[in-house]
Amino acid sequence: MNSARHQGSTEITELILEAAANARSEIGFVDKQPATGKAVNWPIDCNIGPGLEGAIACESKVGYVNGTDGLLSYRGYDIFELCAHSTYEEVSFLLLHGHLPTRTELYAYEQKLIRYRHMNKTLRLLMSFPVEEMNAMAAMRMGTIFMRREFSDIDQEQAKPDFNDAISADEDSIAMETKPHGDSRAIYEFKKKKKRRKKSSPELDDASGLEACYHLIAGVPTITAAISRLRQGLMPYEPLNDLSHAANLFYMFNGRRPTAIEERVLDVTLILHADHGMNASTFAAMVVASTLSDIYFSVGSGIAALNGPLHGGANERVLHTLREVGSPERAKAWVKRSLKENQKIPGFGHRVYKTYDPRARILGPLAKYRCLGCAVDIQQLINTAENVEHEVVGSLGKDKKIFPNVDYYSGVVYTRLGIDPAMFTPLFAVSRVAGWTARVLEYMQNNRIFRPRALYTGKFNLPFTNLDER
Ligand code: ACO
Repeated sequence: MNSARHQGSTEITELILEAAANARSEIGFVDKQPATGKAVNWPIDCNIGPGLEGAIACESKVGYVNGTDGLLSYRGYDIFELCAHSTYEEVSFLLLHGHLPTRTELYAYEQKLIRYRHMNKTLRLLMSFPVEEMNAMAAMRMGTIFMRREFSDIDQEQAKPDFNDAISADEDSIAMETKPHGDSRAIYEFKKKKKRRKKSSPELDDASGLEACYHLIAGVPTITAAISRLRQGLMPYEPLNDLSHAANLFYMFNGRRPTAIEERVLDVTLILHADHGMNASTFAAMVVASTLSDIYFSVGSGIAALNGPLHGGANERVLHTLREVGSPERAKAWVKRSLKENQKIPGFGHRVYKTYDPRARILGPLAKYRCLGCAVDIQQLINTAENVEHEVVGSLGKDKKIFPNVDYYSGVVYTRLGIDPAMFTPLFAVSRVAGWTARVLEYMQNNRIFRPRALYTGKFNLPFTNLDER
């Protein structure tokens, strides 16, 4: 399937293999083995900095990031290999299941994705809100909650008033076994164990299981494309069942089938954003899951965390920055002024990578790929991006280890695929759903609620002053 899918885009494969060869010759990572090991005996010692820097929160086999050498792998497969030879369907399956799918497994998985792409109830609910006036990530987050409702009837069930239900104020409440005297309808009453509701469809009932993960991976693209359309005052497109994940996403955004090159480029960007260690949004999703909230709430939290400009929100800002710089000739002066004013330039720097982000090594050449259809001013944008990169890396690369990150060139790629900047961060989320769900599923096999501590630096034993005396 993939080789057939990659026909007509062999130049893209060559471009990725060339980027891999450049990375290898620059940092010589061919012989390097990650310093991973076996499971550890908890608790373990580690040095922790602010923002949990250095803290080890769990064990994982989902993916590996080495920031010193610029390595990224999913389930043991190098990111360059996956981008060159596989598809998002294969990669999301790999992240969830731990192995590349066989032909039969891939077919069954693709059939599920096709089925779950149709989000009629969710879209109906979404369209009853003024989505066109909302922040796209906020609308997306809302959409995942509607998806939860579509997937299972858990919300309706809980909404049914039942005066015999137990009502507990908080975790410290003590169950009252009898009704208080004189009160005909006691509310603080704990009743017998609640009857389990009959499952309508066993495979569809578990809002925390694998099936829900498939539902989210398939459905989030549909709601994201719908949000993009609604923001333009247009009706969403129905998914087409004969298209791949990437091609369908492109179609639902743009209303036409992509060329082989467009499909492949979007597919590669989806693969590149699918997972990335214990980043802020993944951690947010895992924290929520660890409370035994379900996977829809987890993904909603991931979306909320990804939205910030220090995380996934940077890709949209990069494009605004490049437009603000205006032309390649102005790059030098603009960067100089920004650094003098201590401004952080979007798309540069990373909490983990202290070298070139391997994802940027692929996205850079894709952004510049000559055969991708493009808007009129795209060459100007690309030249400006190259010059800004040259200036920033020249000023900060050696000493501060500041290099382009994944967000630097992704916006240019998305622009060349006809996507509006407001939808860049949502597109990142569309792909990252695979990593969020894979890591949540893995963590839940050995769940422990997350609960770090804060170092209290406040005061003690202050005398209380009455309101009038303050
Ligand atoms: N532009 C200019 N200087 C930078 C940049 C940047 N983009 N990033 C870091 N620096 C400088 C800082 O000013 C600081 O300098 P100082 O030591 O003289 O004070 C030094 O490098 C270290 O910066 P920190 O903010 O401490 O680095 P940290 O690892 O905490 O933050 C982060 C990483 C948030 C990504 C940061 O580099 C940044 O804000 N980048 C811009 C936003 C961005 O592109 N975010 C996307 C990241 S990728 C992702 O999340 C998907």
